[in-house]
Amino acid sequence: MQRYEEIAETDMKNAHIVGWGSFLPERVLTNDEIALTVDTSNEWIFTRTGIRERHIAATQETTATMAFEAAARALAVADLHPSQIELIIVATSTPEYIFPSTACRVQDYLGARRAGAFDLSAACSGFVYGLSVAAQSIATGSVRNAIVIGTETLSRVVDWEDRGTCILFGDGAGAVVLKGSSIPGGVMASTLRSDGSGGDLLSLPAVYHNPVPTLGPEYLHNGHQKNTIRMAGRQIFRFATNVISDVIEDVLKKAELTIDDVDLIVPHQANRRIIETAAKKLGVPSDLFYVNLDKAGNTSAASIPIALCDAVDAGKLAPDDNVIFVGFGGGLTWAASVVKWDVTPQQISRVDREWKRARYIAARGRSRVRKISRRWGAKLAGSPTPDAKMKDARKKAD
Ligand code: COA
Repeated sequence: MQRYEEIAETDMKNAHIVGWGSFLPERVLTNDEIALTVDTSNEWIFTRTGIRERHIAATQETTATMAFEAAARALAVADLHPSQIELIIVATSTPEYIFPSTACRVQDYLGARRAGAFDLSAACSGFVYGLSVAAQSIATGSVRNAIVIGTETLSRVVDWEDRGTCILFGDGAGAVVLKGSSIPGGVMASTLRSDGSGGDLLSLPAVYHNPVPTLGPEYLHNGHQKNTIRMAGRQIFRFATNVISDVIEDVLKKAELTIDDVDLIVPHQANRRIIETAAKKLGVPSDLFYVNLDKAGNTSAASIPIALCDAVDAGKLAPDDNVIFVGFGGGLTWAASVVKWDVTPQQISRVDREWKRARYIAARGRSRVRKISRRWGAKLAGSPTPDAKMKDARKKAD
């Protein structure tokens, strides 16, 4: 006979969003500032896209540090300890390294010692792809709690001389914590789609570079090859307006809901006109779609969780609401998830917040100790470290 705890253990299959957090760099770049460097204007950018300003990462801010900040905030809302997280998925097109993954760096910063971690590449659909994968991992009983993060430093891969693209993109990160529960709801259905034949319409070639430790803005000016985003704007516009309504209708069918049951749609923040066209196709008022791209621009995989956090702050979501996340972008990829929103945010006191931050200082300390002991272990065993090997190779080359 199954014991009660065992039943509870195997029954936690509904993936509920219990925490959310976002991070935007302090530096704001306005349309007027862009107009000082390329032939454009605030009016042109705003009327064609809906964007007024975007945030730009400082030199010391990276895709991983912003992801960590967003994840730490989401964990605080969820009131979970990092050691309770078993899966970290980071959706990004701007990782600092091919490997280690950004997710592994976030795992280390958080001190999430029981978590598997990996990056996911699905461009602007990445967050919804990640949400779907994490929800499935919870549904199968493979993990109980997961974090899904979208994070980008697009300012480092934008051609700042190309007015067709540089006006669109910004930096930032957003995260959600998913928790398995026996209560029905949470992520109810997802649809993921792709069409690789359109890959050339929006692309970012891989970055091949000499061994420099991080990709900072200085990297872009030090003589190495710089790869930047390439885009066929009009074709992407057409693609986006075609797929948004289709994928929303598909995911609603899976969840056995209709568009009348939907309280809010949080779309990928690419262009206000794309969103308005999609709303028309669906036959819904455009304010059913939450839009914050005036303030953050297009932050690719990060845009949906950043917009979600803004929507929560603006009081746009109430318990029992049905919310749809819909993403589209490079690949080509597109995806939608329908989620039953069933949490009321709790007030976190300042003391509690500070106490939780202290965890991460301790996690960095533990990580440092592990690094040092690994180095000493290698020294005592006489095995060369990667650093020493690199120095050796350089000496030989000289
Ligand atoms: N400022 C002023 N003029 C600009 C400009 C800018 N920043 N960018 C392009 N133009 C000019 C073009 O050179 C062109 O001039 P021409 O008629 O003299 O040749 C004219 O504006 C129209 O260009 P077009 O590219 O057709 O403009 P558009 O109305 O399609 O708007 C985008 C361009 C990029 C705003 C729009 O295509 C778009 O948003 N596409 C989707 C992009 C997207 O969302 N990508 C991310 C998806 S995840």
